[in-house]
This record gives sequence, structure tokens and C-alpha cells, in this order.
Amino acid sequence: MAEDMLAVDPDVYVTTTYGDDWQSIPSDEQSFESYEAGHLVDLILESDEENPLFKAPIRYKEAQILDIGTGQGNWAIDVADFLPQSTVRGVDLFPPPVTWVPPNCILEVDNILEQWTWNVPLDLIHMRGMTGSFEPHEWDRVYKQCYDNLKPGGWIEQLEASPYVLCDDDSLPADSILHTWGPNFTHCCIRAGRPIDTIDVMAGTMRKAGFVDFHEKEYKWPIGPWPRDQKYKEAGTAHYQHWLSGMEGWCMWLLTKYGAPNPWSKDEVTVYVAKLRAEIKNPRYHIYQRARRVWARKPFPEELAREASVKEEEETLDIDPLYIKQEPQE
Ligand SMILES: C[S@@+](CC[C@H](N)C(=O)[O-])C[C@H]1O[C@@H](n2cnc3c(N)ncnc32)[C@H](O)[C@@H]1O
Repeated sequence: MAEDMLAVDPDVYVTTTYGDDWQSIPSDEQSFESYEAGHLVDLILESDEENPLFKAPIRYKEAQILDIGTGQGNWAIDVADFLPQSTVRGVDLFPPPVTWVPPNCILEVDNILEQWTWNVPLDLIHMRGMTGSFEPHEWDRVYKQCYDNLKPGGWIEQLEASPYVLCDDDSLPADSILHTWGPNFTHCCIRAGRPIDTIDVMAGTMRKAGFVDFHEKEYKWPIGPWPRDQKYKEAGTAHYQHWLSGMEGWCMWLLTKYGAPNPWSKDEVTVYVAKLRAEIKNPRYHIYQRARRVWARKPFPEELAREASVKEEEETLDIDPLYIKQEPQE
């Protein structure tokens, strides 16, 4: 067994773990439910940490924090509770269905691609699950806006997952429909102009925007309660729920618009999701997704000045002032 392979709990069976009627919620609530379950996966996998919410080493007092694409605001609300002396803003295109937030949490409706109107320099900007939201040139703009709106020394942090369903021990049959999910989803997103490879390109795009001091953490997000380890079992149970409530919303629009070879009908998508759901319910399939967290810093002015002088020196060294062009000898 590979060293980083998750050990399997041999005592988990389909019928004792889940009923068949988990899914009975209308689709809009369904999305918010999926965000909540996704948040839980993230928290469980970081539950050994004193701060399970983010890694960026910001000061905890009076920090100004922004959560882009906050969804239901789960992360923003938890961070506001965790750092009561800080201010946490969550922004999304849609109003979150919450009736109460901590007094230091502000949930706003706005489009992050528009000109930013916050005039307080930020200590931390957080994003999670934003893959597929933007075209590549829009990502450049988002990271540039993040850079411009952070204080010198402020941090950006992003957590994204890969759409591919993986399995380390061949327990997922080769003809499983779950193998089609990653490629299907990836190609639909490419056709939609919003690639879903954010997990692999985000660090490079942040670097291009000027960020420095990069850190990364890799995760395996099990789908289902199959891992033996209790923490992974709990994460897998929450992630299973994340998939059940999220799947239809994740692919209905994409497949009915960009499905191959032609856009799919709604019924075709429903049948596809039902088949995926049936496979996901099988805990004999030891499946997981890859996820990655990246955090990086906006440089301080002295770092930028140092870098500029090194660059200038290199450019100067490129031209040899003693070089005299020799005429070719007759
Ligand atoms: C998959 S959800 C992730 C929600 C949340 N970050 C979480 O982890 O629970 C992506 C969110 O990004 C929001 N979003 C997409 N484009 C946006 C934009 N241009 N401005 C603000 N929010 C946006 C969507 O409305 C959606 O709520």
C-alpha cells in the first residue's frame, strides 16, 4: 500500500450507513446545503489545528478580511466568530439565506469582477470553491484586484478541488461512470470558456499578479465513510453529502449547454446524476478527490525596491561597456 494511501474501514456497508432518501430538498436550498457540507469537509480535515479556517499568518486582532464568493457565508461567519476583534466581509452575487451573522461579519451582494468599492486595505483575502467561476483573463483581473486591495504584507489564500474522482486501490471498477465525471466536467468547462483546472494553475496565476512567499497544502477528500481513520471517515461522510446535494447543481447547466457531442437534455442529465449517485453510495469504492490550499503574500515595499535594484543590476550587466565591436579581418 502506498504510504499516503488512506486505510479502508472493513466494517462499512451501504445499507447500515445511508438510507436511500437523503435527497429531497429543492435545488436552490440544495446548493446552500452543499456549501455547508463542503465547509464541514474543510473543517474536519483541519480539526487538529487551533485555527482550522485558514493558514495565512495574519495578526488576529483588528484584521480586515474578505471572502470572495462567500456562498452561504459559512467561512466568513466562522472566521468572524473566531476573530471577534476583526472585521470579515463576505461577498457573493447572491444574497446568502442567513438571518443572523456576528456583528463583525458583513455579507454583501456584489460582483467581484466589477471595480471594488471597499476602501479599507485588507489583511487577508480568501477564496474557496471558485473553480469554474471565471475565464482565465478574469482570474488575472481578480488576482490583480486582490493584490491592489491588500496591505503590503497582506495574504491571499485559496482552496480548490480537482473534479477528477480518484481511487488508489482499484476498488472503483474500470467501467464505472464515476470515471467519466472528471473528463466530462473538465471538457464542458473548457467549452464554456471557464476551465476548471484552478487547483493546478492558481499558484502560477497568483505569482503572475505579483504575490510572493508561496505555501501549499495538499489534501485527499474521501467521498463516503470508507476510510478507517476517524477524521477521514467523518470528512468522507460530509463530502458524500456535499456530492449528493451538489452534483445536480454542478452539472445541470453545464451539460444542458455544453454537453458532448450535443447539449444534453434535462432528462439525460437527471439519469446521469442518478447513476453517479448510485455509485457514490457504494462504500466499497474507495474514492476521493484531490484538493489544494495555496497561500501567498503581497510583498513589502522594501522587497519590491530590492527586487527592482537587482533587476536593474542584471540589465546593466547584460551590456559590456568595454566591448568594442571588432571589424572582421580582411
Ligand atoms: C461553489 S460556490 C463556493 C461558496 C463558498 N466559497 C464556500 O466554499 O462555501 C462559488 C460561489 O462563488 C460565487 N461567485 C461566482 N462568481 C462571482 C462573482 N463574479 N462575484 C462574486 N461572487 C461570485 C457564486 O455565486 C457562488 O456562491
